[in-house]
Amino acid sequence: MTALLEVRGLRTTFKLETGGEFTAVDGVSFSVESGRTLGIVGESGCGKSVTSLSIMGLLPKGQGRIAAGSIHFEGRDLATLTPAEMRSLRGNRMAMIFQEPMTSLNPAFTIGDQLIEGIRCHSELSPAQARAHAIVMLRRVRIPSPERRMDEYPHKLSGGMRQRVMIAMALSCEPKLLIADEPTTALDVTIQAQVLDLMRTLREETGTAIILITHDLGVIAELADDVLVMYAGRVVEKATVERLFAYPQHPYTIGLLGSIPQMHLAQDRLNAIEGQVPTPMSGLAGCLFAPRCPFAVDACHQHMPPLTDLGDGHQAACWRAPLDSEMGTAP
Ligand SMILES: Nc1ncnc2c1ncn2[C@@H]1O[C@H](COP(=O)(O)OP(=O)(O)OP(=O)(O)O)[C@@H](O)[C@H]1O
Ligand SMILES: [Mg+2]
Repeated sequence: MTALLEVRGLRTTFKLETGGEFTAVDGVSFSVESGRTLGIVGESGCGKSVTSLSIMGLLPKGQGRIAAGSIHFEGRDLATLTPAEMRSLRGNRMAMIFQEPMTSLNPAFTIGDQLIEGIRCHSELSPAQARAHAIVMLRRVRIPSPERRMDEYPHKLSGGMRQRVMIAMALSCEPKLLIADEPTTALDVTIQAQVLDLMRTLREETGTAIILITHDLGVIAELADDVLVMYAGRVVEKATVERLFAYPQHPYTIGLLGSIPQMHLAQDRLNAIEGQVPTPMSGLAGCLFAPRCPFAVDACHQHMPPLTDLGDGHQAACWRAPLDSEMGTAP
């Protein structure tokens, strides 16, 4: 059986004002099966959003492009689709929730109009049927008095409510794949928990596959089946959520998890690893994490480690993997 989504060797670049190109995502491969949730973690700027925009065909025109690799969705090579075919795929077979709901809600139209338009674009429903479906969707994302909310404008809603409306819009066409890019970062903790709960319920009800992008390892632990750890535009570790938390193999992941005392410095673990993330342009010959890595040996500074199979689908790009028990992380 082929996976719902298959990303192979994705390289995404942006034009530099000075000429030349900046590689934001480099050689990223992963697949997502129906009904599974893939978590993507990594600190700011590591290429999580660019990966999802590449999949959705939403890279800024004239600036960003897929320079290498392939993306297959439901067996179709997305590079071969026309812009119109790609548009019809979006919001229909695949949908995305952004960090900031106002990026996808239009302040000039009511919630109801926007939901109905989205639904009618992708179905044969009459206006009245689409309206009824929109109300069902609002109810499904637990918006109180949905009939009344239909006539309100986005700015009248709280952040949590807007995020729910966005989830309702994304899910109104029952996409096979939902990409949620930091869906809860802008929300307070209680609302965060409710939105996550909602995503979990919807996944169970509809079998939608989810790519969940987040800084928050707690969210990953709760919702993801599989995890991709990205660093400086590359995948450095890939494993099931159980294995990743029990036996992290890349020192960067170990740092994120705070499993090493000297790397466990602050509450915000993602930013607690000392040093700066190099850009893929920095010209480092070896592992991009080596300058910050407490385990680095000479080879790490000289050669880029490939993503290597460690068994059970667990992969890490580290010359020192599998890490031994002295490092406190033995499988
Ligand atoms: N439109 C753009 N033009 C040029 N460079 C871009 C553009 N969008 C993103 N980048 C660069 O690509 C790299 C990856 O960015 P991306 O937004 O994917 O990071 P991220 O992992 O989503 O970070 P965050 O956690 O902050 O959302 C960054 O270096 C960023 O500056
Ligand atoms: Mg992002």
